[in-house]
Amino acid sequence: LTVPAIRQRKKDDVTEQPIVMLTAYTARQAQLLDTHCDILLVGDSLGQVIYGLDSTVPVTLEMMANHAAAVVRGSYHSVVVVDMPFGSYEASKEKAFESAAYLLKASGAAAVKLEGGAAMAETVAFLNQRGIPVMGHVGLTPQAVNVLGGYGARGRSDAEAEKIVNDARALDEAGAFAIVIEGVVEPIAIEATRAVSCPTIGIGASAQCDGQVLVTEDMLGMFDRVPRFVKRYEDIAGIIEKTVAQYAEEVRNRSFPTEDQTYQPKA
Ligand code: KIV
Ligand code: NA
Repeated sequence: LTVPAIRQRKKDDVTEQPIVMLTAYTARQAQLLDTHCDILLVGDSLGQVIYGLDSTVPVTLEMMANHAAAVVRGSYHSVVVVDMPFGSYEASKEKAFESAAYLLKASGAAAVKLEGGAAMAETVAFLNQRGIPVMGHVGLTPQAVNVLGGYGARGRSDAEAEKIVNDARALDEAGAFAIVIEGVVEPIAIEATRAVSCPTIGIGASAQCDGQVLVTEDMLGMFDRVPRFVKRYEDIAGIIEKTVAQYAEEVRNRSFPTEDQTYQPKA
């Protein structure tokens, strides 16, 4: 799959299939997800999910580059998109280009994602014109948690709603190939989707977005505390705990290893 092919996947008729996107941070995870997805996102959510950080704010370019390279090694079908971390792109379009070029060169990913709407439009156009496709991200933008004051849903006031739709429009006009809409009340997510020519990808937004994304560890049930918009498809944490408890017990009562797992000198 390619970025232009994704750009064309706007739900303009009912036969168009929604875009399937999940996060991936490691090579093995990418291998398991790749054939089922259209896009693998190396999200800066790895700050919390992999590194145990409180927010995505401390995530660095090097962390993103390393995980993106691993995901690219594990995938051959999906488009790999890598998040630009906080502080690597906001100051200027030139700084954004340098950071984005570094991420793509270090990893082999196809595109970057950055947070923010109209304020980032000039940067999105600058990167796109210089060979770096950009995915936008509006609504609840976690890197701005210190300004937003939390992770609550956006678009409940008229002013917020208008800003979200305008932000989506500005990114679309700047040439973004897709836009993530996160944590936005449904009517505004739908309005933003209709207002733009590129596909929108919802997370806590609406089934009427042109695609959906979740954090893989969230939907697999690796964590006990997840946002309301996450559907837990499995209880992988429960499976891991049960399995590890069995291993620990078998080591302690000497029933592991058995002959099957033990080398003997040649007979
Ligand atoms: O970092 C991330 O995982 C994301 C998705 C939730 C859209 O930005
Ligand atoms: Na992110």
